Amino acid sequence: MDSGLENIVAAETVLSDVDGQNGRLVIRGWPVELLSASMAFEDTAHLLWEGFFEDLRDVSSLGRQLGEAREAAFAIVSGIPDGLDSVSFLRAGWALLPDDESLETAIRLAGSAPVLTAAAIRRGRGEPPIAPNAQLSQSADFLHMLTGKVPHQAEARALDAYLVTVCDHGLNASTFAARVVASTRAGLTSAAIAGISALKGPLHGGAPGPVLDMLDAIGVPENAERWIDEALARNERLMGFGHRVYRVRDPRADALKTALARLPGTSGRIGFAEHIERAVLGRLAEKYPRRTLETNVEFYTALLLEALGLPREAFTAVFACGRIIGWTAHAREQIGEGRLVRPRSVYRGPVPEAA
Ligand code: ACO
Repeated sequence: MDSGLENIVAAETVLSDVDGQNGRLVIRGWPVELLSASMAFEDTAHLLWEGFFEDLRDVSSLGRQLGEAREAAFAIVSGIPDGLDSVSFLRAGWALLPDDESLETAIRLAGSAPVLTAAAIRRGRGEPPIAPNAQLSQSADFLHMLTGKVPHQAEARALDAYLVTVCDHGLNASTFAARVVASTRAGLTSAAIAGISALKGPLHGGAPGPVLDMLDAIGVPENAERWIDEALARNERLMGFGHRVYRVRDPRADALKTALARLPGTSGRIGFAEHIERAVLGRLAEKYPRRTLETNVEFYTALLLEALGLPREAFTAVFACGRIIGWTAHAREQIGEGRLVRPRSVYRGPVPEAA
């Protein structure tokens, strides 16, 4: 038995390879650093979906279809009730989409994600939603739907870098959840909803908001060591550190730090974050000398999304806006396996008395 399944191989995939010993992430043959620095969301969706949908055409057709999907999704927004957090808002919107295994549904899931997330953020502020502009790229339109302004190219590029960096990551908890649901042939929408439901937990995609809470609580560099020691003495987990697979630094941390550094006006915040990062790593190394705990993707995710003006409450939904292309590609790959995922358990409960 392996309760966290860490030593179980449950799928063959052509999508991504997480090399935890060497800190390398390869996505369909590309190192994540290269994808992050050079690809737009549309390119990456095409890269991940290629071979899984017969009717997938070229990247520019896909970009156009994503724009149309954003426009179609805007009609859903008004039907979603008030009082939902961003993940619940996104999940509620997705639940209204068709639930089949087609490319059209994958595109509707991916295209609707930023529309729903931006609308959730604005609803939370008491502001009306902003209609998408299908002429913009997915990332530029996402930022446009938040503020009503077409963003600077550097901002759209930074959001692209983020969405691309988190598009896929082996058989992580949310992707596994999506594959299990896809294996039942429930449909891509159900698989995506399973994925986002697993993602929202603080041990998976729910960490970056708490990263900023930690930076706020520390406040100034001089407080770092004392604050960290007290948190560790309470056996708290420090958000943005540690990983189930990486035994070295998560390569996505530096891809995102590079994207953050390209945004003007971020050097002071980066300097503060680096100080906290060094202090946390030093203390974790003292506390766990035999277990390498390093910076994971969430630490610089938090800083990058903050710099783009996204509220921390919405960080997990924004993560889903990138990961949706991985979930749908994995779902299709699992469907192609043609095998229901159905592990077994060992019964430890009472047994009926012998007659
Ligand atoms: N802060 C403090 N202690 C930690 C941390 C941390 N961030 N991470 C692990 N530890 C401790 C554990 O408490 C454990 O201590 P113990 O042996 O005294 O119980 C020891 O280090 C070994 O940790 P594991 O439980 O083996 O780590 P695991 O592989 O199960 O967990 C996880 C990985 C869940 C990511 C963990 O490191 C964690 O909780 N990190 C903080 C949350 C976070 O940043 N999540 C985002 C991950 S990236 C992603 O999913 C997108």
